[in-house]
Amino acid sequence: IRTEGIATLEGISDETSLENFRVNYLGKKGRLTTVSAGMRDVPPDQKAAVGAKLNEVRTALTAGIEQRLSSLQAAKDAESVKGIDVTLPGRPARSGALHPLTRIRDRAIQTLRRMGFALADGPEIETEWHCFDALNTPADHPARNEKDTFYLPDGRLLRTHTSTVQIRTMESAKALPVRIIAPGAAYRRDEIDATHLSVFNQLEGLYVATDVSLADLKGTLEYFFQDTFGPQTQVRFRPHFFPFTEPSFEIDIKLEVKGQEARWIEIAGCGMVDPAVFEAVCKSRGDKLFDPEKVTGFAFGMGLDRLAMILHGITDIRHLIENDARFLSQF
Ligand code: PHE
Repeated sequence: IRTEGIATLEGISDETSLENFRVNYLGKKGRLTTVSAGMRDVPPDQKAAVGAKLNEVRTALTAGIEQRLSSLQAAKDAESVKGIDVTLPGRPARSGALHPLTRIRDRAIQTLRRMGFALADGPEIETEWHCFDALNTPADHPARNEKDTFYLPDGRLLRTHTSTVQIRTMESAKALPVRIIAPGAAYRRDEIDATHLSVFNQLEGLYVATDVSLADLKGTLEYFFQDTFGPQTQVRFRPHFFPFTEPSFEIDIKLEVKGQEARWIEIAGCGMVDPAVFEAVCKSRGDKLFDPEKVTGFAFGMGLDRLAMILHGITDIRHLIENDARFLSQF
């Protein structure tokens, strides 16, 4: 059986015949199995020797089948790469990366969330009331000009800042404190040049409770900028004016950027929420949760495009939206 089996194996050239062979020899009704059944009639003193022999034959045939199977598979593999030079070096797969704006935004969100700020958002198409009136911006304020703001035919507008989300959040708040950040797009009718687009990205913050102080504002933002730009970063609050905060400040930071001299850079606006804003919110809600006599708060807003440009030494804001792979692959 063994000699015949091995000889047959040599001639097998496909996997189906090989499987048939296995069944014929080693299967339940196979030849070797039939012989093994004859063990019953073998005299006891010869059982051990005969059994050993049978096992030897089974092992030899099993090994033969396996060998045949792997050489059949090797032949198949060789066939499938015919005409392909497997010694050529591979083509490298190019990997993507996050856009610098996405990175700075995610990082800012992460830091502020750790400090207890929740994410909020609001629509980019806004009412004049949410964008200006509720934010204490008088009807004749220059920012409301058609030259500076995109108005839609129905009287609504593209929000000129994310401060609209302050109002939306307070309108729908269920309880105090309110502590939110809102990253998002804002639109202004600027001439497009190296530092202006008609759409840019802001990150707004608002904290309202019964006892929020200017010290909280300073501490929060100093920590934020030092965490974002490194512990050596200096932060300066310069008195300024915004209709919706009083007092108001602009924030400058002084930081070292590779290849540039350290200098003060204006980075954000902030201030204590003007009571007139709380009054507008109370009127809209019809309740006294944001009673200007009882609550105080601070707000801030910063330009994310500017942050990204400063951090990476980008000199033209248009790079941020052009999707040029030569620019993007540097991050
Ligand atoms: N909304 C202001 C701007 O766009 C920034 C700001 C936000 C200032 C919150 C104070 C408080 O310039």
